[in-house]
Amino acid sequence: MLSEKLLAKMNEQITHEFYSAHYYLAMAAYFKKEDLDGFANFFTVQAEEERFHAMKFFHYINEHGEEAVITGFKDPKRDFKSVEEIFGLALEHEKLVSGLINDLMNIAQEEKDYPSIGFLQWFVDEQVEEEASMSRLLSLVKRVGEQGHGILMLDKELAGRTFTPPA
Ligand code: FEO
Repeated sequence: MLSEKLLAKMNEQITHEFYSAHYYLAMAAYFKKEDLDGFANFFTVQAEEERFHAMKFFHYINEHGEEAVITGFKDPKRDFKSVEEIFGLALEHEKLVSGLINDLMNIAQEEKDYPSIGFLQWFVDEQVEEEASMSRLLSLVKRVGEQGHGILMLDKELAGRTFTPPA
């Protein structure tokens, strides 16, 4: 059984995860416009991952006999100015999400809710990967700059990313 407090926070997390999907899709749209299709692919796949995260919470709440709450959210930012800006924002966003996941874990631990601790550990590990991925790409973009061969090589690398639902 989920406590009222944890249920409310998990429902909020569904919104955060769907918002993340929208945010990354807005970034993908910018890259499409700029003809950087590999970067666009990276963020489209990232958006799919975020929807997967949202649905993990959705199913977990349902499995506990509770009703998942689906709400709206603010429009994501657009009018991006550069590749570096986007990766800076994406890294900042992942850090924010890591904080939210840690808050959920703190509640589950305080309540000695062992099933939720196990469930949330998957997200703790996922956040380490997501922060590392954004941080690496930010660092590479800073190194190669916005124009020229380097950014096109990176675009080519990112074109290969596909969405595989995590186990
Ligand atoms: Fe669902 Fe990127 O955290």
